[in-house]
Amino acid sequence: SATPVKVAVTGAAGQIGYSLLFRIASGELLGKDTPVELRLLEITPALKALEGVVMELDDCAFPTLAGVVIGDDPEEIFADVDGAMLVGAMPRKEGMDRADLLAANGKIFTGQGAALNKVAPKAKVLVTGNPANTNALIAMRNAPDMAPEQFNALTRLDHNRAKSMLAKKLGVSVAEIKDLAIWGNHDDSMYPDLFNTKVNGKAATELVDQTWITEEYIPTVATRGGAIIKARGASSAASAANATIDHMRDWMLGTDEVVSMSVPSDGSYGVPEGIISSFPCRVRGGKWEIVQGLELGDFSRERIMASAARLESERDQVQQLGLI
Ligand code: NAI
Repeated sequence: SATPVKVAVTGAAGQIGYSLLFRIASGELLGKDTPVELRLLEITPALKALEGVVMELDDCAFPTLAGVVIGDDPEEIFADVDGAMLVGAMPRKEGMDRADLLAANGKIFTGQGAALNKVAPKAKVLVTGNPANTNALIAMRNAPDMAPEQFNALTRLDHNRAKSMLAKKLGVSVAEIKDLAIWGNHDDSMYPDLFNTKVNGKAATELVDQTWITEEYIPTVATRGGAIIKARGASSAASAANATIDHMRDWMLGTDEVVSMSVPSDGSYGVPEGIISSFPCRVRGGKWEIVQGLELGDFSRERIMASAARLESERDQVQQLGLI
C-alpha cells in the first residue's frame, strides 16, 4: 500500500486538536485512499491527556490512520513530516496584552522553526496558533535552509466566516460565492474584499451597499471570534480545525477556487515584502501564488495598508525581542 503522508500537529491535546485530529485521521485532509501518520507534539504536562486522545483515535478504527507518534521533542515529532500544523500556543490570559503574547509565544516558534529546519526540510508549515501571522514569520526566519514559501498562517477561518456571512445576507449558497478573499493580519484589522468578490458572476458590491459593508459586514467578520467566546464560553475550535484542514488540503492537493492564505509577501499590491500577510491565492501542484492584477480602490487599499502596518509593528516587536 501507499507510503503514509506524515502530518504533525502541535498543541494536539488542546481544543482545536480535539476536533482536528479525528478529521485528519478519518481522511478529510487527503482523502480516504491516502494513509496518514499523525505526529503529535505537546508540552510535557499535557502528554497524559494526549495519551487519552490517542486512545480515542484507536477506538475509531479509522482505516486511513496508519500510525500515531506522540512526544514533547519537536525534532523527534517533526522528523520527515510532509505537513506541520502549528496549533499549539499559549492562550492570552487575563491582563496580558498583545506584546506579552508575542513574547510568550515567540519562543515556541523560534524552537519549532529551528527543529523543522533540521528535520523536515520539505514540510509545508501552517501556523494556526496566535498571533498566527507573526508566529509564522518567527518560524520562517528561524528556518534559514527552508524556502519562505513553506511558511503560511491561517486566515481561512476569517475567509469562511466572511463567505458564510455574505451568503446569508444575500440568501444564496456559499458555493455561489467566488473570489472572496481576506487581506492582512489575522486580527480585527483583517479586510474582507467584496469589490473583487463574485456572486453568480456579479460583483458582490452591486448587491450590497457600502454602508452595510463598512458598518456591519467588516466589523461583524472581524469580531466573530469574540462573539463565539461570549456565546460558547470558549473560543472557536471546531471551525478553526475545519479551516486548518481546508487550508492544508488546498495547499497539498490544489484547488480551482481563489482562497485566502497568509503567505510571505513579495511586495504585491504594496504590502511590504517579507511580512506574512493574507492575500487571495491560487494553488496548484503544491505551490501557492498570489492572485495578480486585481483592482483595489482607495477604500480597500487603505484597509489593507492599515492591516499590513499592524504586521510590520508586530515584526518590529519580535525583532526587538531578538526572536527573528
Ligand atoms: P488550547 O489552549 O485548548 O490548546 C493549546 C494547546 O497547545 C495546549 O494543549 C497546550 O498544552 C499546547 N501547547 C502550548 N505550548 C506548546 C508547545 N510549545 N508545543 C506544543 N504544544 C504546546 O487552545 P486552542 O483553542 O486549541 O487554540 C490553539 C491556538 O489557536 C490559540 O493560539 C488560538 O488563539 C489559536 N486560534 C487561531 C485561529 C485562527 O484563525 N488563526 C482560530 C482559533 C484559535
